[in-house]
Amino acid sequence: MRPGLVSPTIPCYGCTMSAPLKDHPYLTYYLQDILFWYRNGSAGGSRVINSHMKNVRIALKEALASRPAVACVEAQTKPVCFHLERALDNGLHGPASGTTRMLSRITSSLSWGYGYERMPRNLEQKYAYSELMGPRGLVQFDRLILGVVLLAPGTTYPAHSHAGITESYLCLSGTLSQNDAGVYAPGSMIYNPPEHSHRITTDRKEPCLLSYAWTGSEEALANQNMTFKRC
Ligand SMILES: [Fe+2]
Repeated sequence: MRPGLVSPTIPCYGCTMSAPLKDHPYLTYYLQDILFWYRNGSAGGSRVINSHMKNVRIALKEALASRPAVACVEAQTKPVCFHLERALDNGLHGPASGTTRMLSRITSSLSWGYGYERMPRNLEQKYAYSELMGPRGLVQFDRLILGVVLLAPGTTYPAHSHAGITESYLCLSGTLSQNDAGVYAPGSMIYNPPEHSHRITTDRKEPCLLSYAWTGSEEALANQNMTFKRC
């Protein structure tokens, strides 16, 4: 367990067993909050973004109604997790405070990884993600991927894109820019259609915590090959 964080709230029944989502109230509330964001958050007048938000909430409602299993995974950290408490503290003062609070209750049970076969060396210290729902997620579901991304202060997350995947980032804490085309604060949503190249930078002094949602075919969701682009 990482020092300073609350004790695990996801019970472990042994690594060969999973438990129903209803036995994990904080995780359930977190997912309900994400559903709330995608139902009540503004699409800014964009039909395209509104359509993506609708796809996310339809799939998430299906997932919650299907009584999904929660995998028993071994918690893993990455160096960037030293910034997690700060990111959570900052998020508690923003518009996503309730969502951030529920996330803070389960972080000590999350498995953080990189998702890339090849990583720029300096990014290993500054980035990690954890999949909360998906084919390989904590909550096992094939038609939607939800997760969180943690970025250290002063990070440049190199240009990348997702084949066959429509992505949105919901900012929970910190500030970021994408493709040098705007500054996003907590409560903001960024939309990336399939194949769209996006490069993220974060504030120099504070970490950034993002919730992400991926929609696409089950095949695309199951077979993402994450690579950075040369530019
Ligand atoms: Fe992305």
